[in-house]
Amino acid sequence: MPSPNPLRDVQTYIKLPLLYDHWYVAGLTEEFGDTPTAKTLLERSIVFYRTEDGELVALQNRCAHRSFPLAEGQREGDNLRCGYHGILYSPSGKIIDIPCQSTCPEVGIHKYPTVEQGPFVWIWMGVPNRAAVGAIPQTDCLTDPAWTAVYGAKTLEGNYLLMHENLADLSHLPFLHAKTFGASGDWASIPVHVEKENEQVHYWRETDQWGMAAPLYPPTIDNSKRRIDGKLGATFVSPAMCRGWTRIEILDAQGSEQRLLENEINHYLTPETHDSAHYYWSFARNCDIENASFSEMFRQVVTAAFDEDRVATRQMQLLLDEDRHEITDINIAGDRSSVMVRKVILDMTTREHGPQAA
Ligand code: FES
Ligand SMILES: [Fe+2]
Repeated sequence: MPSPNPLRDVQTYIKLPLLYDHWYVAGLTEEFGDTPTAKTLLERSIVFYRTEDGELVALQNRCAHRSFPLAEGQREGDNLRCGYHGILYSPSGKIIDIPCQSTCPEVGIHKYPTVEQGPFVWIWMGVPNRAAVGAIPQTDCLTDPAWTAVYGAKTLEGNYLLMHENLADLSHLPFLHAKTFGASGDWASIPVHVEKENEQVHYWRETDQWGMAAPLYPPTIDNSKRRIDGKLGATFVSPAMCRGWTRIEILDAQGSEQRLLENEINHYLTPETHDSAHYYWSFARNCDIENASFSEMFRQVVTAAFDEDRVATRQMQLLLDEDRHEITDINIAGDRSSVMVRKVILDMTTREHGPQAA
């Protein structure tokens, strides 16, 4: 029997080791305050707190003495004291006081680099000296005053790659999201374009049918007498992020561009364990940005639609864990983009964990 191939077999694919050498979203900036708070990211328990100047600190949530959770301790100025035998740690993870002795060992605990960017905290989970701030995905639409955005968060009870698969094959929109986004079945039959650029994968569909894009735009935009040239697609940015986007060019009767309406739908995936993940999303637009009722309506629709993805992820993970059918996965035309994403994930796995891991 041939050995399982992760490009063809999702069960093998989702068992690949996690990828640490990337920036991931740790959470929304507002989640982290003065009080030490624990969160598990990529199977590592991490304690977050803010110094007196408001700077965010992220340390291993496990005392170097007897593994007591440091989130149960107390902040003292900018430092954190363990609640078991009182060892005091500096924001760099160095031991600076041990109440029962006068000297401190050189060993400390792991400190994670963090960067606050727009509404999110990004964290580097890999080898510290490989962190490059420039590699954090840019999300200008979340800070540009010409745009507005709504946000949401969910916990996925499934491997994060199942969600990347979902995001890489948008032919599921008219089916899984029939009750929310409600795109017509024709959407799935529009050919998908796929382009790989270094380790990013761009994929999109082109349509001149306004009906395909209309649910993504405020109803106050009257396009009934204009020609629409539209692209709807997404980019696999990294294991931590998928950037969805739509571009609708509103043309006048002569075919000249009159307005460019854009949406950017970002999905941030951070494994919690191997079989669960933190999922944040933002939905930004550059049209009708003062329209608060549309923002609220959209927040509700998107929350419901992404919950359909959450439920599907859980259902698939359960079957992959427990069902004993011997099956061979098939790939269909809509999978061209997700297979390309799998190849990138496999390359990253080989680079980080060696060829035997992939
Ligand atoms: S476990 Fe933290 S000081 Fe002992
Ligand atoms: Fe979806």
